[in-house]
Amino acid sequence: MSRAAADVIASRIKEDPRCVLGLATGSTPIGLYAELVNDCNAGEISFGEVSTYNLDEYRGLAGDHEQSYRHFMQKHLFDLVDVDPAATHVPDGANDDAEAACWDYEQSIFEAGGIDLQLLGLGHNGHIGFNEPSDEFPVNTHLVKLHERTIEANSRLFDHIDEVPREAYTMGVGTIMHAAEILVVASGSDKAQIVYDAFFGPVTPQVPASILQLHPNVTVIVDEEAGALCV
Ligand code: F6R
Repeated sequence: MSRAAADVIASRIKEDPRCVLGLATGSTPIGLYAELVNDCNAGEISFGEVSTYNLDEYRGLAGDHEQSYRHFMQKHLFDLVDVDPAATHVPDGANDDAEAACWDYEQSIFEAGGIDLQLLGLGHNGHIGFNEPSDEFPVNTHLVKLHERTIEANSRLFDHIDEVPREAYTMGVGTIMHAAEILVVASGSDKAQIVYDAFFGPVTPQVPASILQLHPNVTVIVDEEAGALCV
């Protein structure tokens, strides 16, 4: 799964060395980032002119906090490839002014000409970015209160569940849907049901990823376990 997904991103970088990538954190893309690091070290691709926008960041964590998504990206990709640090963007979790933080981020994506290829993982409840199940699809980058299940899932990375931030800044579903191309990755049997619901169930904000069925250019790459219900 990681190699196949890395090939999609590497091809895009080769086709357009100045492309704008939307990136995700979480366990699923770690192997994919390792593949891209290998490709870069082997001289097959260069991030020299690429710019990146991450989906989300915990509100209240500065970029140097070990559990911040900025830190995750530095560790798994940015510090290991030739990307220009100024061209890497993650919502500013240290900015307490939610309106400004979200507006600045949305503007910055717009000024970059929009996202060419957006990478997404899938939450067990169908969340994309931190867009949790809800009665509506949130459009733009916004402040969210995290669901208990998400806090629980993410607590594995913190010493104690009480340390997991309760809020985050995330691209909206509209921000994600404006990407020219979307690449979804999922692995493991615990993702099988949500992969099925997202891509074969009804389009509903109760399963935020289901809206991807309406996007004209989505590639879904899963391992056998995550794809088990789709055969
Ligand atoms: C991460 C993100 C989340 C994750 C999702 C799956 O930036 O936005 O939506 O993609 O929670 O996480 P993993 O890959 O850890 O199962």
